[in-house]
Amino acid sequence: MSRRLAYLAEIGIPAYRLRRAPVAEAPRDAVETAVDAAAATPVDDTRAEPSVPVPCFAREETPIAVARGSAAGATDDDAWSRLAAEVRDCRRCALHRGRTQTVFGVGRRDAELLVVGEAPGEEEDRQGEPFVGPAGRLLTAMLKSIGLAREEVFIANILKCRPPGNRDPRPDEADACADFLNRQIALVKPKAMLAVGRISAQRLLDTDLPVGRLRGVVHRYGDSAIPLVVTYHPAYLLRTPIAKAKSWQDLCMLLSLLRSA
Ligand code: URA
Repeated sequence: MSRRLAYLAEIGIPAYRLRRAPVAEAPRDAVETAVDAAAATPVDDTRAEPSVPVPCFAREETPIAVARGSAAGATDDDAWSRLAAEVRDCRRCALHRGRTQTVFGVGRRDAELLVVGEAPGEEEDRQGEPFVGPAGRLLTAMLKSIGLAREEVFIANILKCRPPGNRDPRPDEADACADFLNRQIALVKPKAMLAVGRISAQRLLDTDLPVGRLRGVVHRYGDSAIPLVVTYHPAYLLRTPIAKAKSWQDLCMLLSLLRSA
């Protein structure tokens, strides 16, 4: 099995192979056909998708040049320690009352990619690490599909504490937590960011648009204009496997950004 087919299989995108190639003409890559067909199928959003599916490269026309920060030094170490302690002791909103522990984030402090999810779920609250449940396993596979080990990236959430019953974060809770994520982003200085899911995308981009309207283009985050790609939340992808094709396109765009930055 080719590397590409193996990756697609890993994130659960069905790749159909022709049993016998036509004699006269070399077939179009069967995976592309399957992915394009799936991508052309409307899923959960109201926006009409472009008739030409998003190709596997960034749509931006100008090359992206984002300077990498200097390697983490003593000052950064202090800042990380202070931040971790503040998050651990945080009582800025009522969520601290129901938590088992805060979920700070995990990964390389100098990661090129920073992934932002929504909030810890039950398993994350228990283990103190983001994305460790079933959705987390899919996220890990998604990262692997573009050649990134989970340990190579930094993974954080909009909220550091679990909302009761996994309900959506409330705006006041996200406001109270925003400073923590902003400081993490400033310390990591990623080349690119990936917002997974509606809550993360809407919060980071300060918009009410649905994910289906936000994905497929490169956004810019904050004053440092960090390139940001939006994709579906892995929990949504587990419930709606057909959307994985679109997510794969988003990941391809992200990879292209990381390579060009
Ligand atoms: N979903 C999220 O958005 N974040 C997690 O950490 C786990 C599940």
